[in-house]
Amino acid sequence: FQKGKLTGKHVVITAGPTQEAIDPVRYISNHSSGKMGYAIAQAAIDQGAKVTLISGPTNLPVPERVERINVKSAEQMLEASLQLISSTDIFIASAAVADYRPSEIAEHKIKKVDGEDQMIIKLVKNPDIVATVAQHPERPFTVGFAAETRDVANYANAKLTRKQLDMIVANDVSNTQIGFNSDDNAATVFWPNGSQDLPLMSKAQMAQDILLCVHTRWVEKESA
Ligand code: C5P
Repeated sequence: FQKGKLTGKHVVITAGPTQEAIDPVRYISNHSSGKMGYAIAQAAIDQGAKVTLISGPTNLPVPERVERINVKSAEQMLEASLQLISSTDIFIASAAVADYRPSEIAEHKIKKVDGEDQMIIKLVKNPDIVATVAQHPERPFTVGFAAETRDVANYANAKLTRKQLDMIVANDVSNTQIGFNSDDNAATVFWPNGSQDLPLMSKAQMAQDILLCVHTRWVEKESA
């Protein structure tokens, strides 16, 4: 991978979990660490790109020269992504976006009620950020992730088509040694007419391999 391949390009990456507020002190979220997205941000900087990380809450330091936009909810993440879309060359969605959010956020802390042993929180579906970006008239080259526990190739290819992505990075999360909080990862990359296995390696190395694959497909698409 020749250095500086992404010079002058703007790479936008979503990373980390989203937090969906229930009331002023509570939320629904997940265990995403954000490590994969931050590693891709670093790898893109190393290739000379201008990099914006649209990040949900994480404990990770911002890589040098990366601009980070902090968001909490999926709706905020979508708004930030759309605001940048006309200047984005490559959009990489690594965030673990909550599929649903509470249908309303209580204005005050919800109190427990004596004698009521159950409570119901109504949820509504969140917008699909990567699909919205991929279907936008000003769409950049768009890359998604897929965490699957079985039938990885089938589900990943179905997602690639349904969300109209240029590429999808799929990992088998039934393997507990890799994924979410780990420093290592293994994955398979799919695009409309091909695939490539990325065997177990550090997330830093995987980020470089993913970007190399993105660059190759992107050049191929531009020249098609
Ligand atoms: O459909 P699924 O959640 O498995 O798809 C995962 C991919 O879609 C990831 O790239 C994730 O960042 C993205 N996604 C999104 N907005 C959502 C749900 C998923 O951008 N609401």
